[in-house]
Amino acid sequence: MDVGYHNKSFESSFESVDTAGKVITCKAAVAWGPGQPLVIEDVQVAPPHKMEVRVKILFTSICHTDLSAWKGENEAQRAYPRILGHEAAGIVESVGEGVEDMKKGDHVIPIFQGQCGNCICCRNEKTNLCQRFGVNPLKSVMVNDGKPRFSTKDGNPIFHFLNTSTFSEYTVLDSACAVKIDSEAPLEKMSLLSCGVSTGVGAAWNVANVQPGSSVAIFGLGAVGLAVAEGARVRGASKIIGVDINPSKFSKGKAVGITEFINPKDLEVPVNERIGAMTDGGVDYSFECAGNLEVLRQAFLSTHMGWGLTVLLGIHPSPMLLPLHPMELFNGRQIVGSVFGGFKGKTQLPEFAKQCMCGTLKLDEFITHELPFDKINEAFQLLVDGKSLRCLLHL
Ligand code: APR
Ligand code: ZN
Ligand code: ZN
Repeated sequence: MDVGYHNKSFESSFESVDTAGKVITCKAAVAWGPGQPLVIEDVQVAPPHKMEVRVKILFTSICHTDLSAWKGENEAQRAYPRILGHEAAGIVESVGEGVEDMKKGDHVIPIFQGQCGNCICCRNEKTNLCQRFGVNPLKSVMVNDGKPRFSTKDGNPIFHFLNTSTFSEYTVLDSACAVKIDSEAPLEKMSLLSCGVSTGVGAAWNVANVQPGSSVAIFGLGAVGLAVAEGARVRGASKIIGVDINPSKFSKGKAVGITEFINPKDLEVPVNERIGAMTDGGVDYSFECAGNLEVLRQAFLSTHMGWGLTVLLGIHPSPMLLPLHPMELFNGRQIVGSVFGGFKGKTQLPEFAKQCMCGTLKLDEFITHELPFDKINEAFQLLVDGKSLRCLLHL
């Protein structure tokens, strides 16, 4: 992968065209209904309003959350036509009034979990949530005026997704949802920081605070679960158990520090019993990265009584409640949810990007496929079939 080439070749052609203040017509992959193949078509992208930025997306990939939204797993999320996608990297094309921390040509990562910097959550060190630009799967328009910036050729609205909508050559983001990163950083790999890698590594570092010599169990070995493993490996965990029903994930897991594997289908006892036997009563930390309630219960029971901590990362689309009896919490096991790995995106991601550039984390392992943008439906299929971690789409 020639990481420097794309950045430079794009920048030279980008400098000469001035599109600021104009509507841009470009290609986007539009979702017209649940489970229907995305349609690559011309869309119109309006200029950014106050405190918004318009970004030329260079690379994007597909996360399981896009897959769930594409399938329409949660009926309440269905707003069509819609531009999905939330894991990407790109270059600022123009900025709206009042944006001072970014300018044309800056390299940026979109973040679905924004950081306005002013709300009561943004001002509290204990959380990375933001009251204005948090994750809201129902939100499909911009905050400024309640309208989308995308439209069809005929001027009909096309809706946004997760504050980002990256399956488009150009997108408009609230400036709270775009992070400026070092212009030397390879944008291909930086796109991983937009969701999967930050979500997983951050859960291990910021949320669980995995300690050297500790034991970890990870349920679901997609990009998110493997990023947890990578984060735990860097923190010096001595036992990292990977659990997945797809054994093809195991070879990749070895590269990011997983020390033992369990395929629940091969067991005659519940997974938590096996893990308890392997760890003298249970792991210190478990992570649910599959988006399955039964798996969440197994993850909870796999930790050690007294101090075990379960971190929930998977998205559970159906309106179900936690599969726990309240009395079970008297056994001293804790459970906590983690959004975007606990990172405050605008203030903490630039430093995390630098750590990644220094080679602290093995990002190469996560990009298993690369395709041109117009092959996006093939990329969806790779994830559906469990064949890819991340398929990087080149726009
Ligand atoms: N037990 C163990 N593993 C399972 C199970 C199960 N019952 N069901 C699914 N898995 C595994 C899949 O085989 C797959 O390897 O979980 C993994 C999920 O990986 P991906 O589909 O690649 O998803 P990813 O993008 O990593 O996201 C994982 O985090 O952000 C959320 O919405 C996202 O819920 C999803 C989760
Ligand atoms: Zn994601
Ligand atoms: Zn805020």
